[in-house]
Amino acid sequence: MKRIGICLTLGLALLALCNLALALKQDIPGVDEIMDITHRVKKGLKDVIEAEAKKPKPDWAKLQKDAKEFTRLISLMEKNDPPKGPKASWVKLCKEYTQDVAKIQEAANRKDAKEVLAAVKALDKKCDECHDKHRP
Ligand code: HEC
Repeated sequence: MKRIGICLTLGLALLALCNLALALKQDIPGVDEIMDITHRVKKGLKDVIEAEAKKPKPDWAKLQKDAKEFTRLISLMEKNDPPKGPKASWVKLCKEYTQDVAKIQEAANRKDAKEVLAAVKALDKKCDECHDKHRP
């Protein structure tokens, strides 16, 4: 009888742990969701940031907020499994891309519109390599 009790307790503990792991994983948006929020044409953060930085008087508070969110979302990409291709290359490309996106945030914090635009433009060189390897 005692043994069944121990087994039950252990089983329940294991179940709780699994639920916790699942809950944590669900907090991380999927790659398609991140790409959609950040890269959708015109509406995505990348294009929104670019349009704002091109204005004669950019709204820096908004730009800084968007750039921060852009960096945060991209930094979560590597926490997902790659939708295609090997994990090692995925993690490497995600880390590089996070650094590239962080440059926008740094430039926005310095209120340097020229640098923001240069950093946004530099991202366009990075899409293909990752898509070729990891986009299903
Ligand atoms: C580090 C990897 C990586 C980089 C860099 C990257 N992407 Fe992606 N992107 C992906 C992956 C993987 C998918 C496929 C997601 C899926 O379907 O699960 C994707 C999907 C997309 C989608 C479709 C989103 C949707 O609604 O499903 C768009 C649009 C997109 N990328 C645009 C871009 C553009 C533009 C760039 C460059 C400025 C870029 N991406 C850079 C990995 C990347």
